[in-house]
Amino acid sequence: MSTPVLLTMSGSLRKGSYNRMLIAEAVRAFGEAEVIEGDLDLPLFNGDVEDAGVPAKVQTLVDQVARADALIIGAPEYNKGISGVLKNAIDWLSRSKPPVLKDKIAVILSAAGGRTGGETGHFMTQSILTQLQVNVVHGPLILVAAAPKEFGEDGALNNDFLKGQVADRMARLRQML
Ligand SMILES: Cc1cc2nc3c(=O)[nH]c(=O)nc-3n(C[C@H](O)[C@H](O)[C@H](O)COP(=O)(O)O)c2cc1C
Repeated sequence: MSTPVLLTMSGSLRKGSYNRMLIAEAVRAFGEAEVIEGDLDLPLFNGDVEDAGVPAKVQTLVDQVARADALIIGAPEYNKGISGVLKNAIDWLSRSKPPVLKDKIAVILSAAGGRTGGETGHFMTQSILTQLQVNVVHGPLILVAAAPKEFGEDGALNNDFLKGQVADRMARLRQML
């Protein structure tokens, strides 16, 4: 196959985001790929805005999803749920015609400050994507709890168990492409 295209989608917009770091870890583990960083800093979904014309940034993301062989999604947990940023992006993408998310392959990863590693937000993200007929690469949930302790100064995971989980999932993704 030609070089796979991975589109990263972080549900946290901040520069120092642990979910971004986790995505970067997954991309490194995957190996050779064309990597596109999706910009989820989108206007809030509004049917009137949509009727007036899909915003350029949304259309860019739609086109990137259409082109990608797989999505690598960082799903933070905010107040025991999916982050608004990620939900809003999915809401826009769900409106695309034809539906770009349908049959797309995705890996979901979560890093959180709490003890559960964002499990509830992760499940919610998985549930929404399943409803949209995204093929989530299943396996033990990749949940980085107490995230500030699990990443080194270089931004890489410093926990061998978690590193192994990420590597296994990305190897499985490569097999599926
Ligand atoms: C609005 C808000 C709600 C949060 N709710 C949770 C939560 O429910 N569970 C949890 O483990 N951490 C929660 N956190 C802490 C985040 O896990 C932590 O800020 C994490 O670093 C966010 O991901 P990021 O590093 O990718 O930005 C919350 C943070 C914010 C800003």
